[in-house]
Amino acid sequence: MRIVPAATPRAFAVTAADWIGERLPRIRNPVLALPTGNTPLGLYAELIARSRAGKLRLDSAKVFNLDEYGGLPSSDPHSYAAFLHRHFITPLALPAAQVRLLRGDAQDLDAECRAYDDALAEAGGVDLCILGLGVNGHIAFNEPGTAWDLRTHVVRLSQTTRDIHERQAATAWESPENGLTMGIKTLLEARHILLLIAGPNKQAATQAVHAGKVDAAWPATSMLAHADLTVIELCAPAASR
Ligand code: GLP
Repeated sequence: MRIVPAATPRAFAVTAADWIGERLPRIRNPVLALPTGNTPLGLYAELIARSRAGKLRLDSAKVFNLDEYGGLPSSDPHSYAAFLHRHFITPLALPAAQVRLLRGDAQDLDAECRAYDDALAEAGGVDLCILGLGVNGHIAFNEPGTAWDLRTHVVRLSQTTRDIHERQAATAWESPENGLTMGIKTLLEARHILLLIAGPNKQAATQAVHAGKVDAAWPATSMLAHADLTVIELCAPAASR
């Protein structure tokens, strides 16, 4: 594991964009797994700016999201699909053929998870996996207590996660009880992993990562088993959504 501290939100975004920018040109038809949340907002803005300036080419990249709320269609502004369209896909004008997001409103969520794994496999697996960190140590929607030997699956969201998301919503909103998420197994199969740590109340989860030991209580520590894990940490609050 390589830990890179960033002193400001700007340095955090630039360092993360550099991590992507160094790897992207070396991969043919790159596949990206992307997170939602406040943490990656600066990174997305930086990638969009670099792409518009011709400094970064995403035209052959395929984009998948890490997770989604169960029951929400992509047209729901609270959905992670809507978030990714707003902050990444639409500004970059990525063609639909390069984008596969989890369908939270699928009739059969288990079947959707299997279809998602098939789409990932068909794309050649994840090259660059970008992760945020939950207050309770979750990555994507792999909550504490989730089995670590799963690919994409349906999870029951913890009350902690639901409370945080309801507080973060701009207006009164009730978080769905379930989510769909790439599993730890999928994440560990990615060729390169970037864990981004920013935001309040993450000290305990961050300490668990720093301890450098895989600990079932903290899902993020599952990534310590990966051969190419970079952690970028912001020492100041992230920009707000
Ligand atoms: C949610 C998402 C995660 C994300 C986490 C952190 O729970 N499911 O994928 O990493 O929140 O969010 P934030 O970056 O807003 O702290």
